[in-house]
Amino acid sequence: MMRKGIKILSGSASRDLARAICNELDRPLGAALVDRFPDGEINVKIEEDIRGCDVFIVQSTCPPVNEHLMELLILMDACKRASAERVTAVLPYYGYARKDRKDEGRVPITAKLVANLICSAGANRVLCMDLHAAQIQGFFDIPVDHLYASKVFLHYFARLGTKDVVVVAPDVGSSKMASSFAKRIDADVAIVEKRRVTPDKTNALKLIGTVEGKNCIIVDDMISTAGSIAEAAKILKEYGARELWGCATHPVCCGNAFKRLEEAPFREVLVADTIPLAPGAPEKVKVLSVAPMLGEAIKRIHLGESLSIMFDRL
Ligand code: R5P
Repeated sequence: MMRKGIKILSGSASRDLARAICNELDRPLGAALVDRFPDGEINVKIEEDIRGCDVFIVQSTCPPVNEHLMELLILMDACKRASAERVTAVLPYYGYARKDRKDEGRVPITAKLVANLICSAGANRVLCMDLHAAQIQGFFDIPVDHLYASKVFLHYFARLGTKDVVVVAPDVGSSKMASSFAKRIDADVAIVEKRRVTPDKTNALKLIGTVEGKNCIIVDDMISTAGSIAEAAKILKEYGARELWGCATHPVCCGNAFKRLEEAPFREVLVADTIPLAPGAPEKVKVLSVAPMLGEAIKRIHLGESLSIMFDRL
């Protein structure tokens, strides 16, 4: 069948972002009812014709994760049964990603389980951003396009004109992200050796690299309890860093995150709008939009054009 135009729908997790993407593409957000039956079950109805359309469902699986994930699955099921020609799950934030391997006995691999669910529900493609681990792409047996919010952050720093920068990974896991960020601005890299004591408590043990008298940008994929980024900031100051910026794609921001960010010695903390920022964030938290990037990616996927080219230029 000939594929008709793009149709963008969203679940309740990503309404504002989906609207911003629609603005970029100069089209309205598709009409989809997503609410609850009296017993709490999710009630979905696509309220316009999508037969033959190239459908993109924008939904971050952010807290409440199970609700948002289930909304996404049900939306995809509805689109498939409404004869959409192709369904792309647009996952600005992919939750349940932490468990991506069996690193101890008798634990699940939730990142794979959720990928299986998304494929079974009817996704033909996935468009995501800064996965917790890039290899999660391989958990889907359908095409996955993986975007990087660093482009938006790099633009911000280019405008700011910050000099003498060291890019810091708050743990060894983030070191790849930090070095590709650093490469783009020709900066050095430092790595904090972190130990997680409990799910919401981390200790920064030591610093690998030199930061004395330098402006530091800590980059990470997400801020959850803000333990990692706040501990990293503390140790950087102990080692003589000058100004500090935090930079994380996904502002999950749960527990004491805002209090920790408030108390940490950051000049600014930049996050993307992959997850709506909860009310009460300290003023130093600044949201940069990835809607233009997602909009361009959606347009390119629809037209069958390269996405890598988006990252060749800053
Ligand atoms: C760790 O592997 C991640 O990249 C983040 O550093 C971590 O999930 C952030 O969590 P929190 O803010 O709770 O320290």
